[in-house]
Amino acid sequence: MERFKVCHRSELPPGSMRYIDIDGLPIGLANVQGTIYAFSDSCRHEGGPLSAGVLIEHTVTCPWHGWTYDVRSGKSIVPPVGLRIATYPVEIIDDDVYVVIDWSSEN
Ligand code: FES
Repeated sequence: MERFKVCHRSELPPGSMRYIDIDGLPIGLANVQGTIYAFSDSCRHEGGPLSAGVLIEHTVTCPWHGWTYDVRSGKSIVPPVGLRIATYPVEIIDDDVYVVIDWSSEN
């Protein structure tokens, strides 16, 4: 496990998303009512950049063809139900946002 400082909490206000790259791993961050989630920023359909899509409550919609995912679990919602994008633990330390990566599950 490795922890990466990715931004300050003030850079990700509620309702917003942003893209980060951790050693070539594309990750989206979403702030849902003050809770920050980290997830794979690559859509399971054709790799669309999810953090460039639309965030409504816990649901992110891919900007390319509209697949949707729950940022809490990574589960797809519609369509097709049952796919999943990776999600990552987030830690807040002194208002800095950290993402924890388990590289053993990324390879
Ligand atoms: S690439 Fe995301 S819906 Fe097609």
